[in-house]
Amino acid sequence: MWAMDYDEWALELTTRWMARDLECLSRVSSTSQRLRQRLQTENVPLGAAVIADEQTAGRGRLGRGWQSPAKMGLYTSFLLYPGDRLSGLLSLVAAVALSQAIEAETGLAPKLKWPNDVLLGGKKCTGILVESSSNWAIIGIGVNVGESLPPALTNATTLSRQLGAPVHRPRLWAQLAGFLEQWYERWLTDGSRPVLQAWRERSATIGHSVEILHPDGRPLLTGRAVDVGDDGALLVECNNGTVRRVLAGEVSLRFEGRGYAPPSGDASS
Ligand code: BTN
Repeated sequence: MWAMDYDEWALELTTRWMARDLECLSRVSSTSQRLRQRLQTENVPLGAAVIADEQTAGRGRLGRGWQSPAKMGLYTSFLLYPGDRLSGLLSLVAAVALSQAIEAETGLAPKLKWPNDVLLGGKKCTGILVESSSNWAIIGIGVNVGESLPPALTNATTLSRQLGAPVHRPRLWAQLAGFLEQWYERWLTDGSRPVLQAWRERSATIGHSVEILHPDGRPLLTGRAVDVGDDGALLVECNNGTVRRVLAGEVSLRFEGRGYAPPSGDASS
């Protein structure tokens, strides 16, 4: 590991405590893994952050990877100590903060797909991975920033593609740190209601047909997404009218992006 230009990133920060302990790396296996390593050997302050130009073993949700080519994306992680608060909601806190950062830096209007994907033009442009133990949580965030994308990612897009102009990664990152600090504090002081409201206002999921899938792609249930619960669970109204709570940890969601019309006489899922 070797250093990237620390000042280029740190000088953009306007936060009080978020990312004030900052490590900038040119290459690392995973920014979240790096924070975990630090936790094993030292007391790491609240808000400690890692940014890397490139990740060689970026991690995604559900045990997947996250391709992280050099300087094409924002790859960053932040350390929080949310106590016994629910980590399901933390991932919505991060999604709201990230969508506001993108909006502030680019003027684009992102939408949120449950649990925490940010969409532009209906395509995914970010990933959020929350890892937690009993006394810490690491929020790992990846954003597709540059023009190019690995060819396999056909259902994804990038900020520069959507904007039609380059996006400044350090400024985007500093906006993210700022909104994350604000929303995290708001959540601790005011509870879940404001963050849930902000999430709903940006939701591309609520009111639409959804299919909940096991990580291996097997369908688990289908229905209409009707709301999110206080713990960040998605509430899905099934075809027989029952409402099921779906927790983010073990499933993915196929978003059909259209209104929902239950088939008449449909059996229970
Ligand atoms: C997803 O699967 O949608 C979540 C992807 C999260 C990727 C980010 S990149 C920075 C941080 N470090 C990692 O290894 N993963 C997260």
